[in-house]
Amino acid sequence: MSTVNMTVQIGSLKMRNPVTTGSGTFGFGSETKDLVPLDRLGAVTVKATTRERRLGNPPQRIVETASGILNAIGLQNGGIDDYLANKAPYLRGFDCPIIVNVPGENPNDFAYVVERLTAAGAADAVELNLSCPNVSHGLDYATDPQLAASVVAAVRKVTSMPVIAKLSPNVTDIRVIAKACEDAGADALSMINTVVGTAIDPRKRKFRLANITGGLSGPAVKPIALLAVWRCYNTVKIPIIGMGGIACPLDAIEFMLAGATAVACGTGNFVDPTLSLEVIDGIEKYCVENGFADVNALIGAVTAA
Ligand SMILES: Cc1cc2nc3c(=O)[nH]c(=O)nc-3n(C[C@H](O)[C@H](O)[C@H](O)COP(=O)(O)O)c2cc1C
Repeated sequence: MSTVNMTVQIGSLKMRNPVTTGSGTFGFGSETKDLVPLDRLGAVTVKATTRERRLGNPPQRIVETASGILNAIGLQNGGIDDYLANKAPYLRGFDCPIIVNVPGENPNDFAYVVERLTAAGAADAVELNLSCPNVSHGLDYATDPQLAASVVAAVRKVTSMPVIAKLSPNVTDIRVIAKACEDAGADALSMINTVVGTAIDPRKRKFRLANITGGLSGPAVKPIALLAVWRCYNTVKIPIIGMGGIACPLDAIEFMLAGATAVACGTGNFVDPTLSLEVIDGIEKYCVENGFADVNALIGAVTAA
């Protein structure tokens, strides 16, 4: 047993280690119950939960690309009633903070879902999905600082839970959106959501995704995500949960060195559902081997080449 302090703080949310899951890549925690004991994670971030049930986009919804995947799931989920009745009771059976990912079509939608979660005690933090590229207008909130702030402010009024604003890389300068969210009362930021792209089957001369566009994730996006984290770390004071292409412990450590307080394993879960556990152990080992008694010492510790 090492003596490294692995606990990190996201607003008032205390995580036993800096590792959570990327929303939409780990379901609602029960799918991998025989592989990943939830109480080992720093937090579990679950799939998006909307006001009403959503069927998502028609197939084909996922295609593989070089070093990643394109997805156009379109926020398929059972809605807040289903989450409260069928998902939260299972998740609450573990000693693991729950971060619920919340999208919405307008600020009232976001606030409605967060209010229900708060009243039911069915989450420990909310991650506002301002940045889903796979639904019409899904990116509006993450590409306009005023709109992003309007969602954060509406949610801030209805909960004392930590509010995490999830940002998109599909912008000219992510720092402007980050600052707007901080000023509107966000406790933390998470980044990045997927990068908009497409894929074509040249033999059929057709788009591969029914939705035409999808969100790129996996190792291909890691350099974009790292730069987003580092830029925002130098712009805001609130903590950042970094994600985008993490496939091994050293990837996660890069995110922490760039300024992330915590990290999320996303697409990597599709390659190995136990990736988060490997990343937790690997971060701890790295701290021991490099003489860090506290994992927080890694945050933003990168220096010039
Ligand atoms: C299949 C799939 C579904 C996703 N669903 C959501 C979602 O519901 N809400 C959300 O905020 N992000 C969603 N994401 C984005 C991830 O949480 C993450 O931000 C992104 O994939 C980058 O991390 P990664 O490269 O490690 O996957 C999804 C990603 C994938 C691949």
